[in-house]
Amino acid sequence: MALIAPSLLSANFLQLEKDCAMLNQSEADYYHLDVMDGRFVPNISFGPMLVDFFRKATTKTCDVHLMILEPEKFAEQFKNAGADILSVHIEACPHLHRNLQQIHALGMKAGVAINPHTPVSMLADVLHDTDLVCMMSVNPGFGGQKFIQHTIEKIKQLRTMIDERGLKTLIEIDGGVTLENAPSIIAAGADVLVAGNTVFKSADPSATISALKNC
Ligand code: DX5
Ligand code: ZN
Repeated sequence: MALIAPSLLSANFLQLEKDCAMLNQSEADYYHLDVMDGRFVPNISFGPMLVDFFRKATTKTCDVHLMILEPEKFAEQFKNAGADILSVHIEACPHLHRNLQQIHALGMKAGVAINPHTPVSMLADVLHDTDLVCMMSVNPGFGGQKFIQHTIEKIKQLRTMIDERGLKTLIEIDGGVTLENAPSIIAAGADVLVAGNTVFKSADPSATISALKNC
């Protein structure tokens, strides 16, 4: 059974209290919080201030996905805001190992996010220091995009790398996850499903979370 991480990027920000209450009563495992800087990705979302509000609204794991350059400048702020998992992009970090050390030293779980064009082999020398790999199945920056089918192959490769090393690193799939493709994503070896539009644009978001959980 996969862990489900609804992406708040697709929530209605005029009724966050209602959406958070729905999530808290649902089978969701994580709050997936997408931070965008308008530089690493062509969009701007929100920063530590909103993470702090979400932290106060839930006891669920706050899974913060940083799509920003120089994430080391902000790691401490996100820790103080209440992040449990902090993921940085491999493409934004020339000293990725140092970023992972910093995140762990601050007391958070460390995630590495990889774009669709980045081969999983790039993770070989950091996998044992990584709690979660956030594998992008769309190009980051926007919710509601179409799942890139080649991701299935990458999930299988990463599953093999993790299992061969006897690691507990979680594989999280982010972008374009639907009720239709979730079974094949899980079968390929994913542990965590991020879902934005599929959850928040559905008629009954809580039931959709349960349906994803039972895929
Ligand atoms: C995209 C974000 C995703 C996004 C997922 O850059 O990282 O988390 O919100 O949204 P959906 O599930 O709608 O593709
Ligand atoms: Zn994300």
